Amino acid sequence: MQQINRPRRLRSTASIRDMVAETSLEGVILSIQFLFAKARNQTQPIATMPGQLRLSLDELIKRIPGWQSCGLTSFALFPKIPDSLKNSRASECLNPNRFLPQTIQRLKDKFPDITLITDVALDPYSSDGHDGIVSKGEILNDETVEILAQMAVVQAQAGADFVAPSDMMDGRVRAIRKALDSASLQKTGILAYSAKYASAFYGPFRDALESAPRHGDKKTYQMDPRNSREALREVKLDLHEGADMVMVKPALSYLDVIAKVKQISTVPVAAYNVSGEYSMVKAAASLGMIDETKVMVEILTSIRRAGADVILTYHAPEMAGWLRSSGS
Ligand code: PBG
Repeated sequence: MQQINRPRRLRSTASIRDMVAETSLEGVILSIQFLFAKARNQTQPIATMPGQLRLSLDELIKRIPGWQSCGLTSFALFPKIPDSLKNSRASECLNPNRFLPQTIQRLKDKFPDITLITDVALDPYSSDGHDGIVSKGEILNDETVEILAQMAVVQAQAGADFVAPSDMMDGRVRAIRKALDSASLQKTGILAYSAKYASAFYGPFRDALESAPRHGDKKTYQMDPRNSREALREVKLDLHEGADMVMVKPALSYLDVIAKVKQISTVPVAAYNVSGEYSMVKAAASLGMIDETKVMVEILTSIRRAGADVILTYHAPEMAGWLRSSGS
């Protein structure tokens, strides 16, 4: 049969497929790690996130060289704060002598080449489990932003390379940039969670940190999943306010948003492959319903193809191992 166009020619061998591949995951995967405060020699599984552990700092230090050798050099840290240190002002987040700042310092002393990204939001420290200060059921914006800016300075002074506001308060990127610059922390970058949706996919993460809202939901600050034009507005504001990178979160149900953001962003676009997306893969695999590795690679490839320049994922160690072994 005479046929001029045969797209299958470019798919006919592995070598040709590799030659024409448009997307690669090499070097774009960032790792996420949950940390225990204070404990030593401790690892604790997270029931709703099979394969993920809460680690004490010494356990994290033991694992980093192995990850570095697979090419994982960037880590987003989430501390699990004991209930006894939580209060309605989340004041523990500003304590420079405490767990997270000391952890950052220790890690940067031991591994000067790694990139550390720390979360700026009140929920792990708040007895209300909200990302901002709560007053009469309302999440206060400007009062929260003031605290977030100080929190970012504490983390940056300890050595964080990027502070990552995940709170979705209005105007926080500008306030954080100003506070960092006033404290001579010009080198610290801001990875802004710009289009962060009020998502049910965060459930397992909230188990991991025991940080679920004690009342209400996050819909007055996180975005409505029905919207994408609004994501562009958020991104433009964050760019204007000085974000060094912008992020879309979650990733998998929001590939369209990633693609749209990529079109307008003048800085790298990050995507956060969140806890619920990870746990669904693990659960389906444990029931023998899917091939876990293939599904992981396909999901992360799709996020990259949609336009993500970097991907934060709990699959990072497995993915980095796969990239290494497949030699791609
Ligand atoms: C909170 C925060 C959340 C996640 C990262 N930072 C949860 C939330 O907004 O309730 C979720 C990450 C995940 O599900 O993997 N500031």
